[in-house]
Amino acid sequence: MTQSKDMKDLVAGFPAQLLEAIEIGEQANISPAKNPIHKVYVAGMGGSGIGADFVASFIREESPVPYVTGKGYELPAWVDENTLAIASSYSGNTEETLSSFNQFLEKGAKVVCLASGGKLIEAAKEKGLDYIQLPGGSPSPRACLGYSLVQQLFVLNKLGLIGASLIDQLRSASALLEKHQEAVKGRAQQIAALIYDRLPVIYTSGRLEPVAIRMRQQFNENGKMLCWHHVIPEMNHNELVGWRQEQSRIAALFLRSSLDSARNQLRTEITKEVVGNFAGSLMEVQAKGENLVEQAMYLVHLADWISVYVADQRGVDAIEIKVIDYLKDSLAKAGE
Ligand code: F6R
Repeated sequence: MTQSKDMKDLVAGFPAQLLEAIEIGEQANISPAKNPIHKVYVAGMGGSGIGADFVASFIREESPVPYVTGKGYELPAWVDENTLAIASSYSGNTEETLSSFNQFLEKGAKVVCLASGGKLIEAAKEKGLDYIQLPGGSPSPRACLGYSLVQQLFVLNKLGLIGASLIDQLRSASALLEKHQEAVKGRAQQIAALIYDRLPVIYTSGRLEPVAIRMRQQFNENGKMLCWHHVIPEMNHNELVGWRQEQSRIAALFLRSSLDSARNQLRTEITKEVVGNFAGSLMEVQAKGENLVEQAMYLVHLADWISVYVADQRGVDAIEIKVIDYLKDSLAKAGE
């Protein structure tokens, strides 16, 4: 079995992972916060950080408190004893996340750790903090998005910040993905054939930006290629002006949602017209699903499948991320 085949198995298992993650979340114990929670901060990098971007988008219309994701070493000054602070790292050993975790403790925040093991779980056990241990053994944290995303919703639900409807929507998203899996794979193969030797540029609406980020990251890590993304309406006020000469190497991909406002739909049509005059190719995908959660998960699944087919087309191993390992090793050798 090649590594790329392994990643295909992991991608194919995403709908089942969502259901497994729901079972894990149902059994998780989260102790009540000592102080009222006025805001939430999530620390996580790469494949362990992207789940928080989705959660922030999903809970926007429901959560009474802001939900901010941080991807770096330092915390904002407002993290305090009225903050729910979530540390998310699949390995439990990512240095930026551990740095944030240590600051969570200094600030007296209500801490919850999400990891499969490593220093994070060790420290949570030692200090008697809340934690949810994710299933270990995956070669790729980015293939564990379902676990981290779902656990964050459970933490919020158990602390009374959101109801259970988003979790129900993830359950139905899983069924939707199973139902459309073969069609999604077919579409993914077509898109992969058009982008694998080009520079993909992904455009979507602000609410679906986490999908565009996920797609970019999967093209980077699985496909070993560059990619960029931007969102409508913001790109209408800047990047659009950059489309002025032929860009035959660029493959533009528009991710569409029936939930977008009429104004944004119109903006997207006009943007497509402008971009289509210059891009080497232009494709559009309409998300399936009845709500934001289903549509986002549908597009994530499509993105993941495209990325593994891109890896095949480019003749690269989808799992291998030697350069990230090299960077982490070099940092470790350099000491603190
Ligand atoms: C690897 C991957 C990376 C990691 C990131 C942080 O599959 O997706 O983006 O997620 O380097 O590592 P963890 O997830 O262990 O905290």
